[in-house]
Amino acid sequence: MTSIDPTTLLDWTYRLSNVGYIVAAVLFLMALSGLSKPETARRGNSLGIAGMGVAVIVAIFQALVTSATKPETHLSPLVTLILIAVAMGLGGVFGIQRARKVAMTGMPELIALFNGLVGLGAIFIGFNSYIFAEEVPADAQAFHLGEVYVGIFIGAVTFTGSIVAGLKLSEKIKGAPLLLPGRNILNVVILLVTVAGLGVFIATDNGSVAWGCLVAVTVLGLFLGWHLVVAIGGGDMPVVVSIMNSYSGWAAAFTGLMLGNTLLIITGALVGSSGAYLSYIMCQAMNRSFANVILGGFGAEADSSASALEGTHTEVNHEDTAEILRAADKILIAPGYGMAVAQAQYAVADLVRNLRADGKEVIFGIHPVAGRLPGHMNVLLAEAKVPYDVVLELDEVNDDFDSVDVVLVIGANDTVNPIAEQPGSPIAGMPVLKVWEAGRVIVLKRSIGSGYSGVQNPLFFNENTDMLIGDAKSSIDALNRELTSQKVTV
Ligand code: TAP
Repeated sequence: MTSIDPTTLLDWTYRLSNVGYIVAAVLFLMALSGLSKPETARRGNSLGIAGMGVAVIVAIFQALVTSATKPETHLSPLVTLILIAVAMGLGGVFGIQRARKVAMTGMPELIALFNGLVGLGAIFIGFNSYIFAEEVPADAQAFHLGEVYVGIFIGAVTFTGSIVAGLKLSEKIKGAPLLLPGRNILNVVILLVTVAGLGVFIATDNGSVAWGCLVAVTVLGLFLGWHLVVAIGGGDMPVVVSIMNSYSGWAAAFTGLMLGNTLLIITGALVGSSGAYLSYIMCQAMNRSFANVILGGFGAEADSSASALEGTHTEVNHEDTAEILRAADKILIAPGYGMAVAQAQYAVADLVRNLRADGKEVIFGIHPVAGRLPGHMNVLLAEAKVPYDVVLELDEVNDDFDSVDVVLVIGANDTVNPIAEQPGSPIAGMPVLKVWEAGRVIVLKRSIGSGYSGVQNPLFFNENTDMLIGDAKSSIDALNRELTSQKVTV
């Protein structure tokens, strides 16, 4: 029997792996396309899982063949397999345990943690590929060193930035922006020193100066990540998480370059660009610019204006509300973060069924940043099986509120705040649902307190607004009982 030459085997392995990577990349693209609509999101998720499965199998296969064909520089295939199994086992147990426990409202924190881990991984791989650099052609050496340096820097910024964002979101540290004097100058100086360090690192290539550059860029990156994010108010953290998601993608792409892994480059670029685009959409929905979010400080002044508004609100109970709904023909529901906190989506779905059974037209108006993560409301409503065709976007409903008899605002606040239309207000210019233009507005929340931005809401004091005070789920359950009992009585 003729044995296969190791070089040929390795060559074939890389060729086959590339085919596998192309399949995985196509599956990732199809997953992204599926995730863009609630109707196809489940399929998108399955395609993403399949793509990741292919990627993992190909990567393990490649690692095993490499270790078998290069015994002089690599661990044995068995040791390689054991190490991979241990790493996957530990990561899998940690990931499953965190994902099982997390409530939908805690999702941004979990994403922040995962982004941070990608950043940490990029730092380790950067150091690893500097120490164990192999087979880098002399004319590509400078490029390789650049990948290592930039990959470590982005990884370090992502790591501390994501950890701070996660801690702020979970309120383990204060959400208020920490504004060091001259912070923007400090950031620029750090960037300039980092760029200068890159030149020195490539020029010296080896020895204590190069090592000094690597350690310095790690420390500078870690400090910059912390400093950038502590200066940003808690209200902007979901955008920061999305920006960090984008950075983690770029860190992964650089890791792919260091390891010569095509799929990691493609996936990193997909995550990097989709994260950046998502951050852009979020900024647009809040009428903020990227720079305004990144330069921080937003929310520091909001608290002072929160108590400035005064007025009298009127309250209704669930019996009154049921009566008002019975008299209405067209009802719009504007849900917000409070619906997620109360886990009221199933009760809301029952309410929709009850009202539609009574011949009412019921639609939803979804603000693009309602809740705490993009698509938050859509996910909850889909989970409760609310038909997609009645769930409309802000642009689809905002010009038609005068044809709506009753709006039920369920745990939303900033996204229905008319003060956004007042120039100079802390949320001026943010597009909001113009619920006050409807015949009547009923707001379901636990108090007349402000929303996430800390800005008081004058909607509550309008003549055509009534408050149904209480936990959203309890209120809607009571409302459902009232509506069904009225039906039985009739
Ligand atoms: P918020 O302005 O956050 O207000 C939610 C309201 O829900 C609170 O005022 C709270 O009032 C009420 N609430 C809490 N628990 C409740 C419960 N169990 N039952 C009933 N009500 C409850 O909500 P929103 O209108 O969805 O706005 C989202 C905010 O997040 C915006 O400021 C947005 O800019 C920001 N943000 C969102 C995103 C994304 S991607 N979604 C990204 C960045 C920023 P009570 O305490 O009185 O009950």
